[in-house]
Amino acid sequence: MKIEGTLRVPSDKSISHRAIILGSLADGPVRVKNWLRAADTLATLNIYRQLGVEIEELSPTELVVKGTGFEGLREPSDILDAQNSGTTTRLTLGVLATQPFFSVITGDNSLRRRPMLRVVKPLRQMGASIDGREEGNLLPLAVRGGQLKGISFFNKKASAQVKSALLLAGLQAEGITEVEEPYLSRDHTERMLQLFEVDLSIIPTEGGILVKLKGGQTLKGDKDIVVPADPSSAAFFAAAAVLLPGSHLVLKDVLINPTRDGFFRKLKEMGANIEYTNVREISREPIADIEVKYSPDLRGVEVHPEEVPAMIDELPLLAVVATQAEGRTLIKGASELRVKESDRIKATVENLRRMGAKIEELPDGMVIEGKTPLKGAKIKTYDDHRIAMAFTIAGLIADGPVELDNPECVKISYPNFFEDLKKVLKP
Ligand code: S3P
Repeated sequence: MKIEGTLRVPSDKSISHRAIILGSLADGPVRVKNWLRAADTLATLNIYRQLGVEIEELSPTELVVKGTGFEGLREPSDILDAQNSGTTTRLTLGVLATQPFFSVITGDNSLRRRPMLRVVKPLRQMGASIDGREEGNLLPLAVRGGQLKGISFFNKKASAQVKSALLLAGLQAEGITEVEEPYLSRDHTERMLQLFEVDLSIIPTEGGILVKLKGGQTLKGDKDIVVPADPSSAAFFAAAAVLLPGSHLVLKDVLINPTRDGFFRKLKEMGANIEYTNVREISREPIADIEVKYSPDLRGVEVHPEEVPAMIDELPLLAVVATQAEGRTLIKGASELRVKESDRIKATVENLRRMGAKIEELPDGMVIEGKTPLKGAKIKTYDDHRIAMAFTIAGLIADGPVELDNPECVKISYPNFFEDLKKVLKP
């Protein structure tokens, strides 16, 4: 079996969420092309409709978000359901904090276990009133916002969701809001705010960044956003092409923002045959076509804490690839993986071990010793889309079948994952 052909994977999830959220706050219509239609982004769409925003669906992937500014939002008459989506929840908490009305936000079993205090605490400091289980750490959360004041916040975990929530709240706060991070997390919110003509200062610090904005600014509407292909989805096919003899794949229009393409850079460092061609820009984001060929001589590598944010969602997949690399791969500083849709360190270690890999669990990462042949196994996905897809790729190089307990969970970010895989998988 090999991977062959050309594929345009579905659009970027992070940017698709933001197109709706920021578009809802703009003072005029925002036309979104190539929007990702998946369970997570549909949760965002439904929430902003409940908040009174008119969103027209011209086609499944083409929207017009008819924002009327922060003042246009309305008190929802029912609970907002973010389902499985941490990005929807945390960014929306930043928006709700600016509103004098009452709202409640909740989510599914997985999301109701994920920590929210990281955003609730600074939003309270800005003046919002937020309460929930475990003193506001766990959903459901009840919010009553209103007049906020700007704060200076050190974003220790370099979370883009926290940074984005505070920047959105800061737009309606009195004075200046500053967010500093020790190393760069994804910067789509900053780029999109600039597209909406918001005045931001982005100041490099030693290894990290300081983002500053003044409250009281409006997001200028009447804009177009074209969403590129999601590097986190493209990563699965790139890994498959690297691992399967004879493969040659071109992934079209992939976002290569340096805060997102860490997985591809790390694969190159491992000795993979990967090239960016046709590099260009759309809607203030850099994109490229990525050409990937079978790469038989992979070497183990180290992933350092400052490199983690740019490949955070791809680390389970990197562990799968590392089982086929000569020598040791060490992933450190990735404890955030434990509070994603599942505990992704535990899920990766447990499932790879079942497949015969040599892998050790660390509190903040993993150590993988390669090369080891993989064998088929029953995989526990923990209903986590990225675990389901990473282990489907592991299954392609395994001796014997890999069986997922919940393959449907791919719908969170990539509803046609299995169909697309069939298209490029050749005998
Ligand atoms: C996201 C940020 C990351 C990432 C998540 C999407 C975003 O989370 O893991 O899948 O769109 O801002 P953190 O910001 O919590 O690290």
